Amino acid sequence: MQNTVRPALYLGQNLPETIIELDSVKLSLPSAAGPVNILKGIDLKIAKGETAGLVGPSGSGKSTLLMVLAGLERPSSGRVTCAGAEFTRLGEDELARFRRDHIGIVFQSFHLIPTMTALENVAIPLEFAGRADAFDRAEEELKLVGLGHRLTHYPGQLSGGEQQRVALARAVAGDPDILLADEPTGNLDQSTGHEIIELMFDLHARKNATLVLITHDEALAARCHRIVRLRDGLVEKIEAGALA
Ligand SMILES: Nc1ncnc2c1ncn2[C@@H]1O[C@H](COP(=O)(O)OP(=O)(O)O)[C@@H](O)[C@H]1O
Ligand SMILES: [Mg+2]
Repeated sequence: MQNTVRPALYLGQNLPETIIELDSVKLSLPSAAGPVNILKGIDLKIAKGETAGLVGPSGSGKSTLLMVLAGLERPSSGRVTCAGAEFTRLGEDELARFRRDHIGIVFQSFHLIPTMTALENVAIPLEFAGRADAFDRAEEELKLVGLGHRLTHYPGQLSGGEQQRVALARAVAGDPDILLADEPTGNLDQSTGHEIIELMFDLHARKNATLVLITHDEALAARCHRIVRLRDGLVEKIEAGALA
């Protein structure tokens, strides 16, 4: 969409500002059969404002990589730098604060709090972040995703598409630098999924954020600036997409 990052920029002259940088990131987890190497040395730079489509076979490490980018999983080795913060240097509290102030995440299964209304789901994290205008802000964000008429509904009273709109509103309400999405349309029918994607690209442009989007949908990945192909815990290939 209306984005100014061009492939020539990050392929050559005038490198734009890097907002995400992974340096030899490895992640192993213990299992009964011994350690499982999930990420095997990921090097990746993502430019400010870029959209990156992350694709790869099931089990290739996409979700794990996203958790590492969000600071929700710590790598076993290597370095993660996001929006100027080197994660290894941050303690748990600092990391949580960093996440709150800089990162928005959307999951396949929405992850809304069932006992809170749509408005509360968006407003409460803003309140925790110390914003006095949390509820007004949340209402605005919900209107932006077309849910101005559903403010007092609980997640259980909303369709899947509406729940994902609430999750999107929550993810972007704090104006994050980085928006992460893990198969956000995976639980939705095709046309609802399509609406969510349009909304997500629209929010990405409007908020001037950087978007990392995991998807199974090649056509969707191709709409991003770049397509990052993961295989067996490694970046296999990076290609230019349509937005580039
Ligand atoms: N908590 C865990 N403990 C052990 N293995 C895990 C854990 N989480 C993920 N894995 C394994 O790591 C690999 C990558 O998983 P994941 O990142 O979810 O892949 P993807 O999102 O690409 O499908 C898979 O083989 C998965 O079984
Ligand atoms: Mg996954």
